Parts: sequence; C-alpha cells; structure tokens
Amino acid sequence: MSERRKVLMVCLGNICRSPIAEAVFISSITQMNIANRWSADSAALRGYHVNSMPDTRAQETIKSNGITNYSHLARTITDDDFHDFDWILGMDDFNITELNRMKPEGSKAQIELLGRYDPEGEVIIRDPFYDRDSTGFFKVFEQCSRSVKGFLETHQ
Ligand code: 4NP
Repeated sequence: MSERRKVLMVCLGNICRSPIAEAVFISSITQMNIANRWSADSAALRGYHVNSMPDTRAQETIKSNGITNYSHLARTITDDDFHDFDWILGMDDFNITELNRMKPEGSKAQIELLGRYDPEGEVIIRDPFYDRDSTGFFKVFEQCSRSVKGFLETHQ
C-alpha cells in the first residue's frame, strides 16, 4: 500500500480557520473510512499564538458540529513542512502569497486555496478572529465542510 497523502491546513494564527479545516478533514476521512490513506495537520504563518488551543469560538463550533475528539496546539509552519506535505491549503489570498514566498526551492507541496474546492464557489475563507460573535466561525465550518468534501472527491 502506498504512503498516506498529507494535507497541511494553514492560516495566519492557527487558532481559528486552519484548526476548523483540520478537524473537518480528520472527521471526514474517518467517516469515509479512508483515514488509512490520508493525514492532516494545521499550522500558522505567524507565531502569535504558538502552543495555544483554538479560539474558544472555534472550539465551540467544532464541538457543536459533533466533532468531540479534536485537539491541537498552534504551531508555526516550518521549511520541512513544504517537503513533508503533499498539499498546503491556505484560507485567503494573503496566506497563499506568504506560502509561495516561503516555499523552499525544490519542495514538493502543492500550495492552493482550500476554497477552490468549494462547489458553491466561495473561494476565500475569511478571518473571523476580530468578529464580536461566533457567526463567522460557523460560516468557516460550512465552507470547510464543502471544500474538504470537494477536495477528497477530486483527489480520491
Ligand atoms: P486565524 O485567525 O488566522 O484564522 O487563526 C487569526 C487569529 C489571530 C490573529 C489573526 C487571525 N491575530 O492577529 O492574533
């Protein structure tokens, strides 16, 4: 059996969008019985929140969507990640610009917007960190669910 394909979800702080994307990905591959063929992690572009749990609104969103076993502490992306992961999926255009700037020459990771796999065409997953409530986090979850499904259908 060939090696697992590896996906790294990336956003600015790794406490809002990319943990939700990672939790959705892990939950999806588990439900689809393909967890033996895929693995996922998440990371930040900036080290503002290293070792922090996801934002409480992200935790609430993940739990209220039935994912109860997700745990992750924020970490920053490293040069090795660009060699280790098959895909590095960013949430917005700034993420993609930064990832392309950081990508070491000769590394294998394919850098893409997660939202390019959204069948509803909502390509940008907006940063909800400065919002006053959880509404934006629930929207992030919906976008991630659609996009992860699209990604797995495309690359099954
Ligand atoms: P994320 O959201 O990139 O989706 O994790 C943010 C979290 C923290 C900050 C910005 C965005 N911050 O500036 O601290």
